Amino acid sequence: MRRIACLPLLVASLFVLACAPAPEPASQAVAPVLTGEDARDIHSYADPAVARVTHVDLDLTADFSAHVFAGSAGLDVEAEGADPVLTLDTRELAIEAVTDGKDKALKWELGKADPILGAPLKVTLGEARRVQVKYRTSRGAEALQWLTPAQTAGGKLPYLFSQGQAILNRTWIPTQDSPGIRQSWSARIVAPKALTVVMSAAMQGPEEKPVGEGRAWHFTMEHPVAPYLIAIAIGDLAFRDVGPRTGIYTEPSMLDAAASEFADLEKLVTAAESLYGQYRWGRYDLLVLPPSFPFGGMENPRLTFATPTVIAGDRSLVNLVAHELAHSWSGNLVTNATWADFWLNEGFTVYFENRIMERVYGVSAANMQADLGWASLQEQIASLGGAKAPDTRLHIDLAGRSPDDGLTEIAYEKGATFLRTIEAAAGRERWDAYLKDYFDRHAFQPQTSARFLADLREHLIKGDAALEEKIGLDAWVYEPGLPANAVHITAEAFKQVDAAATAFAASGKLPDTNGWGTSERVRFLNRLPRKQSTARLESVVKLLSLDTQRNSEVRFAWLRIAIANHYAPAVLQLEDFLTSMGRRKFVLPLFTDLMAQGDWGRGIAVPLYARARPGYHAVTIGSVDKVVPLASAAP
Ligand code: BES
Ligand code: ZN
Repeated sequence: MRRIACLPLLVASLFVLACAPAPEPASQAVAPVLTGEDARDIHSYADPAVARVTHVDLDLTADFSAHVFAGSAGLDVEAEGADPVLTLDTRELAIEAVTDGKDKALKWELGKADPILGAPLKVTLGEARRVQVKYRTSRGAEALQWLTPAQTAGGKLPYLFSQGQAILNRTWIPTQDSPGIRQSWSARIVAPKALTVVMSAAMQGPEEKPVGEGRAWHFTMEHPVAPYLIAIAIGDLAFRDVGPRTGIYTEPSMLDAAASEFADLEKLVTAAESLYGQYRWGRYDLLVLPPSFPFGGMENPRLTFATPTVIAGDRSLVNLVAHELAHSWSGNLVTNATWADFWLNEGFTVYFENRIMERVYGVSAANMQADLGWASLQEQIASLGGAKAPDTRLHIDLAGRSPDDGLTEIAYEKGATFLRTIEAAAGRERWDAYLKDYFDRHAFQPQTSARFLADLREHLIKGDAALEEKIGLDAWVYEPGLPANAVHITAEAFKQVDAAATAFAASGKLPDTNGWGTSERVRFLNRLPRKQSTARLESVVKLLSLDTQRNSEVRFAWLRIAIANHYAPAVLQLEDFLTSMGRRKFVLPLFTDLMAQGDWGRGIAVPLYARARPGYHAVTIGSVDKVVPLASAAP
């Protein structure tokens, strides 16, 4: 691994430079790649048994006028046999040259492109164990969104961010893009002088000497990580510490609001550590992105990426940060080896998120979240076609499909429910001890469902047939639907909310909402019958101040009801919501709901989508394009 030495006299007034970073716990320099059918990744062309990448060294220049990265990726390779061939994943990359890093050309060939997987890049290695790929990204690179100044809060400077999960990083990095092939990495990124570069790695700050019109920034990730976790953002960024190892990056005008919303960051890290062991990544910072970020959050190591829609003003959506933080263990430390086992990332994380919430904010807040999760699990099972539908399995079959198709609430909520069921059967103390030990034993390694079950049997169940019977391991992972022993956490606080929703539905009686937080409001709205009289809708609007509502979760729950009723007064707000952020979790269901409302909804959806689409990230566009026709194709 090549490491940047302390760069002399770096000047970056905003940052404490990491010239001599505090030593972090060592991890194996080269992480093992699992062999066996359960670990075979159908979404990568890589053949790691022949040749595998162990380290990626990026040297890229961000061209904000052409919307491309140009430069090179230096890959350290381990290979077996005589004259091995290294297979890399690429998608829409323009490959310019492949050398051994010492200017000796290597033989290479770009295979046929598949719409989901992209094209394999095969390099004949000979004696070479370092490969230098010179390349440029394309304007349509799906992992990247290049924002115009108008799409940022500041309005003056452009912005770029990446989103790698699940298989998008191959649109900007030619490496083996499989979560089971962990790689350490480093980067030198040249960006315009006025902009700051951040990545999911330790920052060594910008070089003092300008590079043309720009500056070069250096980053190192010394732990081997799944390549989907390599992430970058470039923009007009400010930073503020909120704790000894925690801080917030965002555009200057957003910094106060973001820092106050996430003032509890350090507390969350400490709580997580007290549950499942040391935080192994050094710093934990949060980057609050512009509104087009297509997800709520993304657990990029050391630097969680988050949507600005979590800034509610009252810290009521911090569970999202607890979730991304939890991925520092489940997902980033122990990683699904393939996307068929995505539940190992997300189910564990939802479970862990809830335990962190319980520790920091108490049982009542945590139980409300868990109970909302249960409701969304029931809805998801129904919308997938019921308890027999194959995609309600935890371990899913993605043959011929994009990993995106497995991105449902099943992985999240059925996964978490499975772990709650184990907890209930084994007892919390025993289960917690097991989990802490599990993260230690599998740290910096890939994992599969089969191996998790084997590990459970060996280290938790230990031949206790009654316990195994009580849990029912294989059925949980390999069968569709929800086993009868599923633990449903019910929130005490929701009893009153549910009764209020029932009473309102029956007679229009308005509840006393004193003391209701975001969870109670969302629950109340979700419990109302979809069809309401206009008078009733008006009284709900007044009750929860829905016409001026800024909380994204409450707004979303309300707009779904408004659409179901063709409620005209909410259309402006709907348009405002859908043109002011691009989070797929909100955007896709709202457009789907509109399209389900015949001419009325279609008449709103088609022109609205035409207007909003240019502002969305490719991930959101890819999903909504399947639901809403483009305006020119409209009748
Ligand atoms: N890792 C996911 C986001 C993701 C999943 C991106 C699959 C691409 C492919 C992230 O941790 C996540 O689950 N985010 C949720 C947050 C929520 C569960 C609190 C989101 O974005 O809504
Ligand atoms: Zn997650």
